[in-house]
Amino acid sequence: MISRRDFLKDASWALATAGMVHPSLSWGADQSAAPAVTGKQGMILRSFRFLDLEMPTEFMNTWITPVPHFFVRNHMFEPSTLDAAEWRLRVSGEVEKPLSLSLTDLRKIESHSVINTLECAGNGRGFQSPHVPGIQWQRGAVGNARFRGPRLGDLLRRAGVKPAGKYVMFHGLDEVPGKVPPFIRSIPVEKAMDSDSLIATSMNGAPLTRHHGFPARALVPGWIGAASCKWLSEIKVLDQEFEGNFMKPGYRMPDKPIEPGGSANPDATHPITGLSVKSVIAGPKDGTTLKHAAVEIHGAAWAGEADVTKVEISTDSGVTWTRAQLGTEHAHYAWRLWSYWWKPSERADYLIMSRASDSQGRMQPTTAVWNPSGYLYNAIDQVKVHVQA
Ligand code: MTE
Repeated sequence: MISRRDFLKDASWALATAGMVHPSLSWGADQSAAPAVTGKQGMILRSFRFLDLEMPTEFMNTWITPVPHFFVRNHMFEPSTLDAAEWRLRVSGEVEKPLSLSLTDLRKIESHSVINTLECAGNGRGFQSPHVPGIQWQRGAVGNARFRGPRLGDLLRRAGVKPAGKYVMFHGLDEVPGKVPPFIRSIPVEKAMDSDSLIATSMNGAPLTRHHGFPARALVPGWIGAASCKWLSEIKVLDQEFEGNFMKPGYRMPDKPIEPGGSANPDATHPITGLSVKSVIAGPKDGTTLKHAAVEIHGAAWAGEADVTKVEISTDSGVTWTRAQLGTEHAHYAWRLWSYWWKPSERADYLIMSRASDSQGRMQPTTAVWNPSGYLYNAIDQVKVHVQA
């Protein structure tokens, strides 16, 4: 007979493979019994079995997110034993000369640094209406860090991609429970050859920690976090897109809008690549009572491969909009911090909203495109505050 614990494990797994863990199997922000996680501080525990940690918005106040506050998204167990001396990164498939590189070999290759906002495709899923199953991320499955390592393109050039090579597949060393599909995904060879796509070995100036993919991870800037495979063990050049579970049915959007609450035919979907344009209000927090005095409304905005051009704020439920001040720190693929000083005119309840626009002409919409997995949620952010005497 299957025990309740095993049943929950299996159910948790079944849902996790589709990029989701049912909310009843995970912890929310209000769980006081959340166990401490090495190297992490003050995070919201969304799932413990496969570690999923969300950054509370109060930490969204530095351009570079410190590693202890950087979100974690794992579909399965992190590798429990990973000997850096034994570790090898293989490059194989449609290449002239397959490679097997040690960490020392990787460190000898010229390295490059990219500041990238990494966001989980499911960030904001908890705001989707109607509700969709999966980890109920709110605002904080996102962070901005400086990644460093050799260019993926340099490795591929060393191996010599054959003309038949069209996609580059990444395989991670996650510990896969039972008969479940491993975390394998692919990206088109053009994106892999982009001079900013990396095999990152460091984050914010220090070697990657285990939670973030030690000893090496892919870094596919501007794209959903799932593209950036952690604990990388194999890079394989393929003649066609990889079609395993985490490419199909996972991480796809319907080709055409579907009725909210409806289901998508997997053959009428496409893989998600770049991130949407999005801003998030980090403060004041939703539900706060404020004094009748000037207050700084602030947050961050990002747009994947595009640049954020403006962030606008409304303090009258979307009737009028005023530009926020963008932070001076910026880099391609990195979020912009923004702020706006507001003096409430009277003691009342207010709905504060933020919306970002980008260099591709995109603007954060009033309603996000609904899809059955709740991916790429980017509706105009809003918080309610009460201003009192
Ligand atoms: N790589 C492996 N091997 N296994 C995973 O579960 N999760 C992906 C990606 N890379 C994942 C992975 C997803 S969905 C996201 S959003 C990012 O890692 C999160 O990166 P982080 O945990 O370093 O923040």
